[in-house]
Amino acid sequence: MGKNDKKGVLPLFKSLPTFERNNEHDVFVLGIFEGETLHPVVEKVDSMLNNQVSRLKKTKKIAKQGALTTVYPLEEIKSEAVYVVGLGKKEDVTTESIREVVASVGQQIKKDNIVNTGFLVESFTCELVEESDVAVLIGEGLALGTYTVVDYKEKSNEVDKKLETVTLYGKATETLQEAAQVGYTYGKGTNRARKLVNTPGNLMTPTDLAEEAKELAEKHGFEYEVLEREEMEKLGMGALLAVAAGSDQPPKMIVLKYTGDKQSDELIGFVGKGLTFDSGGISIKPRENMHQMKMDMGGAAAVLGAMDIIGSQKPNVNVLAVIPSSENLLNGSALKPGDVITSLSGKTIEVRNTDAEGRLILADGITYAKQLGATMLIDVATLTGAVLIALGDCTTGAVTNNEELLEEVLEASVETGEWIWCLPNYAPYKKMLKTSDVADLNNAPGRLAGSITAGLFIGEFAQDTPWVHLDIAGTAWQSRATSLGPLGGTGVMARTLAQLAINKEI
Ligand code: BES
Ligand code: MG
Ligand code: ZN
Repeated sequence: MGKNDKKGVLPLFKSLPTFERNNEHDVFVLGIFEGETLHPVVEKVDSMLNNQVSRLKKTKKIAKQGALTTVYPLEEIKSEAVYVVGLGKKEDVTTESIREVVASVGQQIKKDNIVNTGFLVESFTCELVEESDVAVLIGEGLALGTYTVVDYKEKSNEVDKKLETVTLYGKATETLQEAAQVGYTYGKGTNRARKLVNTPGNLMTPTDLAEEAKELAEKHGFEYEVLEREEMEKLGMGALLAVAAGSDQPPKMIVLKYTGDKQSDELIGFVGKGLTFDSGGISIKPRENMHQMKMDMGGAAAVLGAMDIIGSQKPNVNVLAVIPSSENLLNGSALKPGDVITSLSGKTIEVRNTDAEGRLILADGITYAKQLGATMLIDVATLTGAVLIALGDCTTGAVTNNEELLEEVLEASVETGEWIWCLPNYAPYKKMLKTSDVADLNNAPGRLAGSITAGLFIGEFAQDTPWVHLDIAGTAWQSRATSLGPLGGTGVMARTLAQLAINKEI
């Protein structure tokens, strides 16, 4: 647990049908659309504010998407301040834009040390996004926007005041409260993943990652298992062991299982790359940005974040999480270019580049998930620099052997606002993997189509099991703050994986 975590401090969502002048808040939040007359409920509040909103709207661009204007009521209502939030043109509004707007409100709430807030839910609605959707997005956006990266300075950034009460003003009061709580759970799961990614490598070792998983298991009642080096040796997890050989930190194969439907044989397998620091090994990386490689467990973080959401939402499906975890360092016993290793599956691999280590540990992760009964597989990994070149830092790259499962993953990602684009899996790419004279597979066939060959390498171990690979090397980290959160780990795919599992509920 980080020092900023206080167990059990959930902002409490309340709901009331109408806003009255004596409802007391540190800040009251309402939304306005560009090029529209004020919503009747906003008009009513505006009259309590001496028409400040309508007057400002005439001269300033306060309705522009993402604009946030603070208005101070003069005794007429009991809130200390009112945030007037620009939602943009009605035809441009999407769930993403509302999520972003609310998250930027969250960031302001954090800056202003707000403890108690109220939202005029109705003012955020339009044809595409109804009240209960807005409530979900308020819960999610507030959790995402109020997230802070823990630092380790003498004078730390720890905030002493946290959001405690959020009152939602809207019609279906009970539904709103529940919807906001669901959204909040998604946001908090994402923040859990962000925290794991942001934690420095010396404080987030494979052992620490296993500890995090154990905490989650205790929180939600998951089955929990961690394989140690000796057990890996017995089972023949040669690929994970080979990567771990260069490090003093013991590797871990971390397993969580959630059973929501005892009757079903279906078992959704999530496999996350848990490389807690990637130096490249003997094929060492350049020094400039090596420090960023603490994020190389972003896949593991996404899987754990998703399990947190799933544990709270309790869908009636079964989910297996498998996280192979190691460091990729170099010492006298380290894996070397040219070494041939035998994976858990029995397939042999010639290691042409020790920096292509993610696919090695995932090979054993995928095989182990299959041995544990996974009937479909989604692996998540910060796998290739090449995916950044192909898709930038806003889109996750996918590779699959099953269009149907891909479709389900894409559907979930549309709901969560996390973009995914699928890369081709044509036969010539697969042939590029079979270019070793001495082993079944070559772990680094060259620069061409680097993200595709990396994905398909993992696919060799999924075999006939429906499988989708998600390369988050670009999306797991943002090098500047966005409206959804600060610079650093994004927790990307925690929400999409959870949504996928929840959508499978019958
Ligand atoms: N962890 C890296 C990929 C990465 C790059 C993650 C940038 C996040 C940001 C991975 O292990 C790696 O080193 N991949 C190599 C593969 C190559 C040697 C075939 C790469 O992308 O250069
Ligand atoms: Mg590497
Ligand atoms: Zn790596």
